[in-house]
Parts: sequence; C-alpha cells; structure tokens
Amino acid sequence: RLLLKGGSVAAALALPATRVVAAGRPEVAGGADVHIELRAGHGEAALRPGKPTSVWRYTGRLLAGDPASLQVHAGSSLGPTLRLRRGQRVRIELLNELPEATTIHWHGLHVPDDMDGHPRHAVAPGQRYIYDFTVLNRAGTYWYHAHPHGRTGPQVYRGLAGLLLIDDDEESALDLPRGAYDLSLVLQDRSFDSDNQLVYPVSESAESSMHGRMQGGGMMGRGGMAGMMARMMGVLGDELLLNGRMPQRLEVRARPYRLRLVNASNTRTYKLAWSNGTPLAVIGTDGGLLDSPQAREYLMLAPAERAEVWVDFARWAPGAAPALESLEFDGAMTMGSGRLPDGSRFEVLRFAVVGSERAAPRQPPQRLTELPAARPAIAVNARRPKVFDLTMGMMVWGVDGRSFEMLQASPEETVKLGTHEIWEFRNEGRGAMMGMVMAHSMHIHGVQFRVIGRQVMDRFAAAYRTVSGGLVDGGWKDTVLVMPGERVQVLVGFSDYSGLFLYHCHMLEHEDSGLMRNYLVKA
Ligand code: C2O
Ligand code: CU
Repeated sequence: RLLLKGGSVAAALALPATRVVAAGRPEVAGGADVHIELRAGHGEAALRPGKPTSVWRYTGRLLAGDPASLQVHAGSSLGPTLRLRRGQRVRIELLNELPEATTIHWHGLHVPDDMDGHPRHAVAPGQRYIYDFTVLNRAGTYWYHAHPHGRTGPQVYRGLAGLLLIDDDEESALDLPRGAYDLSLVLQDRSFDSDNQLVYPVSESAESSMHGRMQGGGMMGRGGMAGMMARMMGVLGDELLLNGRMPQRLEVRARPYRLRLVNASNTRTYKLAWSNGTPLAVIGTDGGLLDSPQAREYLMLAPAERAEVWVDFARWAPGAAPALESLEFDGAMTMGSGRLPDGSRFEVLRFAVVGSERAAPRQPPQRLTELPAARPAIAVNARRPKVFDLTMGMMVWGVDGRSFEMLQASPEETVKLGTHEIWEFRNEGRGAMMGMVMAHSMHIHGVQFRVIGRQVMDRFAAAYRTVSGGLVDGGWKDTVLVMPGERVQVLVGFSDYSGLFLYHCHMLEHEDSGLMRNYLVKA
C-alpha cells in the first residue's frame, strides 16, 4: 500500500491501512458501537463566584454504547469527555442550536474528509449533521471543537470544546495510573467583565469586514483599533480556566498520577514546570505515548498541543503543596493585558498531597511503546520538501502571502494518497510589519506527523533558548510550535482517505484571519 522500502518501518509509521472494525459488539444505529448526540447551544457555567457566565456549550446524550463513552462535567463550560476505543465505529449527531453556523473538528483524529469538520460542511442553525467514523488512532489525548468559517476563535472562546480520549489494547496492557489517578487538565485563558460575562476583545466589525457578514446577538466585543489588533495578534485572557472552571486546589494522594495536559486556549502558549524545579516526566504527546519517558525542566504547550506527564506525589512530603506553573519566555509577542500577561510566570494549579499511605516514589515504565524511526528518506519529496512561509499582510495572516479561501478552484497543495512528504514551516517574518514576528502553532488535519528538524535564525537564537528546552519532538504530533525565526520540518504520511483537508495556525485568531490553507489528498 505504501511506496516505501523496509516493510516494518513503513507499516509502523503509517496509520492502519484498513478500517479496523470491532468484533463482537452489539449493533446500534447504522452499525455503530457508540451513538452520541451533541447539542451545540446556549448554556450557563459557574466559572466565577457569583453570577453564572453564559456560554456556548456542547451538551451530550449517549444514545447507545458503553456509558463510560460519555462523561459529563457539571458546571463546566467544556462539553462532555468522549472516551472511545481504537477500532470502535462512532456515530455522533451534532444538533446546532446556536444562532450561527458551526461544525465539529475531531482534533488529531484520522477520519474521512466529510467527517473532519471542515468549514465547508457548515451546519446551519437548527440543522443536524451526522459524524460517522471508525477510530483508527492510537490511544491518546485528543479533543474536539467548533470549526466554522472565520468564527472558530469566538466559538471556542465561548466554550465549544471538549476532550476526546482514546484507549487501545496496547496501552491498556501497560502499568499506567488509571481511573481517579488519570487526570486531564484542559488549560484555557479567558477575560470576564464585572458581570462575570466573557469578554472577547475582537470587534465584530473587524470580524465581519473580513468575512463580509454580520453576526447578530451582541457578541461581547470591543470596537476600533484594539479589536482589530486583537484579531490580528490573538486573544489572551487574563484569568485561567482549568477543565472549564476556575482552578481549585486539587487534593492528590502520595502516589503516581498520569496528567493529560491540553492547551485549548485561543492564542496563549504555556511553559509548564513544577514549582520546586522537579523535572517533568513526559510520557506522551499529541498522538499518544512516547517510546520512553523524557525528562524536561519545563514543557512548552502551544495552542492545541497535548502532553502527558507522569508525576508521583510520593516525592513530596505529606501536606506539601506543589504547583504546576507557567514560566517566563520570550518571543510569543501577543497582546497581553490584565493579570496574565503573555510570557510571564503564574500558577496554573496547586496540588495538596493528602492521605497517610506512602510508598517509595515510582518511575514510569521505561518502555512505553515501540516508535518507528522517522526516516526522511521515505518522503517522495525528500529532495525538495514543500516550504510554507507563514506571512503577514495588511492585517491578515497567510501562507506564502495568500489568506485562506474556502472554495478554491484547486488547492495549492496536492499530495498523493499512500505517500509521505516533508513539509517545512518557515516563520521568518515575511511581510511582517515593523519586523514583528510571532510564534505560530501549526496543525495539520487528518494526520499524525513526526518532527524531523528545526533551525533558527541567529537574530532569534537568544529568545529561542528560552523555549527550546521544553520542546518534545520525539513522538507523534498533529500540532507543532514554530517560534519566531524558526524553520520546522515534519514528515507526514497520507493514508486511507482522499479528499480535502486543512492545515493552519491553531492560534485561533490567526486561523480566523487567514493563516489556513486547504490541501487535497488525491487517490
Ligand atoms: Cu483543532 Cu483545524 O483545528
Ligand atoms: Cu499563528
């Protein structure tokens, strides 16, 4: 199937060629193993003390399948956590009860193009869309969120996001913390007005002038130049939400935990570290477990990236209160205001180690999985990688100077089904105003890729050193941080599904203002 030599590497590098169908499960609607309804609509969440915040939120209902497939978080702005198994056939019905069009993107999943939430499959208010796919991905931490044309930023900001966890047999056989000791932490920054309502500082006029339409319904916006700039630079909130609520001290036992960290913020990048300097034991990235744990003094997490960390709280004394913090770094250049300005140090979550049981601290398993070597030579364009310049024009972002067009006659990027390619993202400030270069978080739909190279320009080297120790490139990725002045090469395989997919910056205001492009997988 794949045009590769060295069968074992090829087989392991690619996602499975054929659809895995779970055997011996009860048949439900249309042959699915799990059948879920997700309503996207208005809701209220208890985000801050006092008045509830109105949000847009996914409300889930399990119509058939294992009850553990859908976990609801009362009081949170997040949608339910979907917990699926590799091989399951899943049917998810989106019912749009919002006043505007929306879609759902299953971030990190390998699904057919019409199941991927591309904005061209917009679901109008009052309409239903049936997402029906087989889970082909490895076990790991994925997520889902709204993805409408030009409105992904405001819709996700209002709450339209949720977790999607995948399990598989290989991972279930490992000795990893489970149940209450397997914790997901979804990081999002938000700003509130004095009435506890969300403030999204992008002016409606800036949004609508870009996309030639007006959205009714009084979206929290500020007008004028500040709104235009926020649309351009990205939105940073001044308070942190964890799992769609205000962070609260979390009581933990003196034992190992698996922490799944998810950056579901619109633009903010975090530099995560333990408050007492204990290195982080990173066990997984976007596409699941690494082959072996990697110690990092700190960990960079750009918008849409995930990382899994092993932590044994037996390392801390009883009654200790370790915190996960976000440290200072250079080179993000976004519009910070308020209490969490970009790049400075703040506390993400404080833990409290409770209970009397106590064993010697344990290391994670040293062998987590077998990861194939990422071999650039398997790419059909190994000699001439595709280069994508991330560019800034007159208040709009683009790739190679062109902003997103939803229905191009023919997409600029065409790849052949069953091949691998090398793609290079270049962030060297082409077209930038006043030499302004921002970090970007590049995401490719429909695939998991490998990072095979990074180079940084001399004049950005000093800033780069404040983040480079926290990059974890060894595993499967679907999103990669591209710092100012940096070039990043990724090895991508296109398998199973032909059709039209997207790649874009996951800083959602950059995406909404044009840093996105279609690519076509041709059979
Ligand atoms: Cu999570 Cu196209 O995005
Ligand atoms: Cu960007």
